[in-house]
Amino acid sequence: MRRLIFATNNKHKLTEVRAALSDVKDIEIVSLAEAGLEGEIPETADTLEGNAQQKAEWVLDRIKTEEFRMKNSFDGVFADDTGLEVEALGGAPGVYSARFAGEHCSFDDNIDKLLGALDGEKNRKACFRTVICLIEGVKGGEKFFEGRVDGQILTERHSNGEGFGYDPVFMPDRFAVSFAEMPLEVKNSISHRGLAVKKLAEYLVTFKV
Ligand code: IMP
Repeated sequence: MRRLIFATNNKHKLTEVRAALSDVKDIEIVSLAEAGLEGEIPETADTLEGNAQQKAEWVLDRIKTEEFRMKNSFDGVFADDTGLEVEALGGAPGVYSARFAGEHCSFDDNIDKLLGALDGEKNRKACFRTVICLIEGVKGGEKFFEGRVDGQILTERHSNGEGFGYDPVFMPDRFAVSFAEMPLEVKNSISHRGLAVKKLAEYLVTFKV
């Protein structure tokens, strides 16, 4: 069994990623909490690639210590970073999507700010982009996997309780519902993170870490 730490504290993401990787045999995805790692992971880069790598390296630094390795064994670590890029806002909020409405703001605060910024705007085009950085324990060196989904920002929330973040106001192209109205399997099959994780899964199947 290969054990990989997913550098996240976000339960929604963990569920999505575990579901997306469920077909890959011999892989166990371990969350930060399950690995006994605590603390705020730094996210200070100004690109998605930079942030994903920073998060993965933060975990790697902790699991490399002798004390940690005495008690645990892991084959690698991966981290993701996602941004919502809105065309009419010049690509904002992008890498700052989590704190668009300020530090420690809620998903609702971010959506309110986004809808306000696009008030009266006809161009609603946007995309979600995810970059995953994988660092393999034995081989070392980082690998990047990117997923992207294009769509539109709705003028108001559409939700039946699924999803998180900007999901209630993002409608992917070729669909008539928002991400927050889709069953998780459907979102996973077309979403930025789903596509990036699919590439990660293909890599993990082909090249055993
Ligand atoms: P993160 O860097 O992956 O944590 O994502 C940054 C922010 O983008 C999150 O705080 C969410 O607001 C938003 N986000 C990321 N993934 C999704 C998604 O699948 N749906 C909606 N919003 C998302």
